[in-house]
Amino acid sequence: MQGPDRARHANRLRWKQANCVGCGRWHDIGPDSSLCDCAKQENLSVSCDLQPATRAALLASVEDNAQSLWRYAPLLPVDRAFGTRLGVGWTPLYDFGDYRGTRFFLKDEARNPSGSLKDRASEAVVAVAAAHGVTDVIVASTGNAAASLACIGAAAGIKVTVLVPRTIPGAKLTQIMAHGASIYRVDGSYDDAYALARTVSLAKGLYNRSTGLNPFTREGKKTCAFEIAEQLGWQAPDWVIVPTGDGNILSGIWKGFHELVALDLLSSMPRLVAAQSAASDLITRRFDPEWARHANNPPHHTIADSITVAQPRDLTAALAALSASRGTAVAVDDDEIVAATRMMASRFGVFCEPSSAAGFAAFERLRERGVIAPQDRVVCLSTGTGLKDLRAVPAPDNLPVISPDAWQEISIGGDRQ
Ligand SMILES: Cc1ncc(COP(=O)(O)O)c(C=O)c1O
Repeated sequence: MQGPDRARHANRLRWKQANCVGCGRWHDIGPDSSLCDCAKQENLSVSCDLQPATRAALLASVEDNAQSLWRYAPLLPVDRAFGTRLGVGWTPLYDFGDYRGTRFFLKDEARNPSGSLKDRASEAVVAVAAAHGVTDVIVASTGNAAASLACIGAAAGIKVTVLVPRTIPGAKLTQIMAHGASIYRVDGSYDDAYALARTVSLAKGLYNRSTGLNPFTREGKKTCAFEIAEQLGWQAPDWVIVPTGDGNILSGIWKGFHELVALDLLSSMPRLVAAQSAASDLITRRFDPEWARHANNPPHHTIADSITVAQPRDLTAALAALSASRGTAVAVDDDEIVAATRMMASRFGVFCEPSSAAGFAAFERLRERGVIAPQDRVVCLSTGTGLKDLRAVPAPDNLPVISPDAWQEISIGGDRQ
């Protein structure tokens, strides 16, 4: 951690213990992101005190009805006073009623300030940073986490440095720059950017928000599970479908539901689905090879660039979440992703980016094969807005242009499915 006189900032974390997601060993934690020193150098999972007093504090906090993830402050790492005013979280859960025989819900994470679920993680990490006087944060990202940290960091007055692959979509680049972050496009993959960010953070003592390294990203993301449960009247759905790259949203969603069960606020867990791109499907191959399309392929080109990762940084916890929830993993092709993007936009009014639409494509496949049964209650996470990445639905150059008085040429209808 750089800059501040750390002695002036006591450890302000609400919870001071974490265990390694691989070997299980307990660690004392501070605000710094650190890995276990076990053979696999796995990441740490924060241990919250899940006693009746925490349950009472949580219910009282929910009663206060903050319109953000801070409504769950008693289960977040630091006091809500360290959060921003941007209103991260408390996104809508749309109930679309009967769809393909299921009771179908979409959780619209595009409503977050920077347009993706990543804001939950950034808000938690930035609050931890602010509580400890950290002035600079670095992140490696496929795009959304960088845009998110740039946005939340700006609101908190924290300087942000981002490392992204050179192929990042233009709108995300613009967004990062508009928020005033320092941006480095790495001539390589997300995995290369990740390694570089780690080297820089260690060499320069910078606080690192990178997914699957910083334990507080999972703490932010788990609030999405809290919201789903609360919005369903403190009930779990049968399935939650999670677009998956590093697997950190997946492990966060599992942790969130698990904490609610431990607090006796839920009586069951949902089954989780990791929805991956067939071009980047290591979690699927490891969990359920039957659903993977290709054996042993390194990631290759896909329209779902946000979930393209060779070495998922939260692999162990993601696989554990799938096993513990009796879930499954599915890899979908780009043509299914494009069809899903169009369907979500034209059937439900939710325009998401291709990586997000992988979740809906996985739903279609699982429903078709009968894995998701009629009457099942399904929540599909729509993790990011389509406005940042238009490649799935480019407007054609040759759209007809008509004269202002050509009313006879106008036929009513559209491309709705
Ligand atoms: C829109 C979107 N959905 C899903 C994911 C996957 O999240 P995770 O890497 O935690 O699996 C990402 C990651 O960048 C993303 O940007």
